[in-house]
Amino acid sequence: MTHVFNRQTFDEVMMPNYAPSAVIPVRGEGSHLWDQDGRNYIDFAGGIAVNALGHCHPELVKVLTDQAKTLWHLSNVWTNEPALKLAQQLCQLTFADKVYFANSGAEANEAALKAARHWAVETFSADKHEIIAFNNAFHGRTLFTVSTGGQPKYSQGFGPTPGGITHLPYNDIDALDTRISHHTCAVIMEPIQGEAGIIPADHDFVRRARELCDENNALLIFDEIQTGVGRTGELYAYQKLGVTPDILTTAKALGGGFPIGAMLCNDQVASVMGIGTHGSTYGGNPLACSVASKVLDLVNDQKLLDGVRERHLLFMDNLDELNERCHLFHQIRGEGLLIGCELRDRWKGLARDLLVKAQEVGVMVLIAGPNVVRMAPSLIIPPEDIDEGLKRFGIAMAQFREEHSEESDA
Ligand SMILES: Cc1ncc(COP(=O)(O)O)c(C=O)c1O
Repeated sequence: MTHVFNRQTFDEVMMPNYAPSAVIPVRGEGSHLWDQDGRNYIDFAGGIAVNALGHCHPELVKVLTDQAKTLWHLSNVWTNEPALKLAQQLCQLTFADKVYFANSGAEANEAALKAARHWAVETFSADKHEIIAFNNAFHGRTLFTVSTGGQPKYSQGFGPTPGGITHLPYNDIDALDTRISHHTCAVIMEPIQGEAGIIPADHDFVRRARELCDENNALLIFDEIQTGVGRTGELYAYQKLGVTPDILTTAKALGGGFPIGAMLCNDQVASVMGIGTHGSTYGGNPLACSVASKVLDLVNDQKLLDGVRERHLLFMDNLDELNERCHLFHQIRGEGLLIGCELRDRWKGLARDLLVKAQEVGVMVLIAGPNVVRMAPSLIIPPEDIDEGLKRFGIAMAQFREEHSEESDA
């Protein structure tokens, strides 16, 4: 069947900075998607860890449509009830004293990095401006956040980039111990590096980072844009680590698919961010905040969070079993419903091929770097959808193995 809009339309009218699949999904329900030709897919991608409650969750649809009939937008010249309610929830559920609303993860991190710099300048001096970040980290695509991220490919060719940023090896206590000083204003890290390939932080590393920040009057920033809002089986990953940051950024799953980001911080940080220091026209938009408020209500539920851990075991057991048959993966790791399957050396660089194979047999997965297939499905994906999706993924694994048998024999 021909369609008015197709993949070719993308090439004609969209900036070529993405390489979307030829498949164009047109409808979603729970953990299922359907494309323009009515083909069904099980969704293990979850909009890159965004659709925490699946597609078109009836309670989110209701809250969004109710809000759409009431009030869409005001700007920050006036505050609004949904924003106040959501900020109050976030403060009650986390360490935060204050909240700043943005529209995306990168913007939440941009706010965090600016606030950290401003806090150091206002509280100490202008030469306390060093930001310590980690190799392979990902913090977004604004110029400050690509420069803070630890993957040079994202900032190369966009210089001059902001200075005063140091990158260290992740999980390396000695490197952090050696580098951090009274010139450091903040250390920023992901509790699990997502885009780098689902790499969890060692608990000792995080604990020591907190101590070193305290000793050097530096702020600790957790980027929980991928790990937050139930993804790991806790509302936020820091709650399990037992280490409290000064700033936490959250986005993605917070809106369940409606764009929103937030920077959560303690009073010491908030106190320097006076009138006019930062802002956003859309930040705190009533539509986004009313949806996010409902997402938090639904996710902050012990039964749902326990269900994430149960589903984790279901994924891990089944993936281990599939891997025993195909021997594709060197390691299957992750927490909750953020799972990475790292290809063995002989298939290095071929994760995208496996993603394409999976889509062909009706299951959507993601990659995290060239060697890791990533799964970040809905937190409430029904167990029967996990079974069916993994059955399809097993077929894709066998086909991939068959197709790349030459590499494996080499
Ligand atoms: C850990 C982390 N931080 C920041 C971002 C950027 O978020 P956004 O794409 O909403 O700007 C991402 C997105 O993948 C992320 O995974």
